[in-house]
Amino acid sequence: MPSSSAVPDSVEPEVVVTEEDLARVDEILKLHQHDRSEMVAILLGVQDALGYLPVPVLKHLAERLEVSPISLFGIVTFYTSFQLNPPGRHKCTVCMGTACHVRGAVNVLKEFERRLDIPAGSTTPDRHFQLETVNCVGACAMGPLVIVDDEYHGNITPTKIPRLLRRLERDKAEDVT
Ligand code: FES
Repeated sequence: MPSSSAVPDSVEPEVVVTEEDLARVDEILKLHQHDRSEMVAILLGVQDALGYLPVPVLKHLAERLEVSPISLFGIVTFYTSFQLNPPGRHKCTVCMGTACHVRGAVNVLKEFERRLDIPAGSTTPDRHFQLETVNCVGACAMGPLVIVDDEYHGNITPTKIPRLLRRLERDKAEDVT
């Protein structure tokens, strides 16, 4: 039997969901007349509004739609377009497609994970960096390829990563509001 205990409290260390966030979610639900058959559209709307889908918001949605949290969690983990982690200011995506893989993408990814101290698919606690992987973006000749904020960087080796990250750290002070 499905159980809500299988749903993590959160996939990030500190999730702050405000009353205002929940009010926006309720607005979206109203827009879709709380129609469960429009679940994916509702989830996409909430993600657009909040930037991602925090676990407490998923639980709120489940309650409002009278579905089990685990079924909702199943949907968002099935579709790659759903984002359970907060977006980082800078998104670093390491291509793990075959051509990049044979040219050393694994070591590139490991170095990113080591330097940022997060696993792929997550965001640093200060939300400055987001680390993701992708399977081939059609630029195989450039491999190993890393995409930083939509900019392609080819022939990346682990030794090139510190310089790349230093450049992205320059605007870190602006993160503190
Ligand atoms: S395998 Fe990396 S771009 Fe194709």
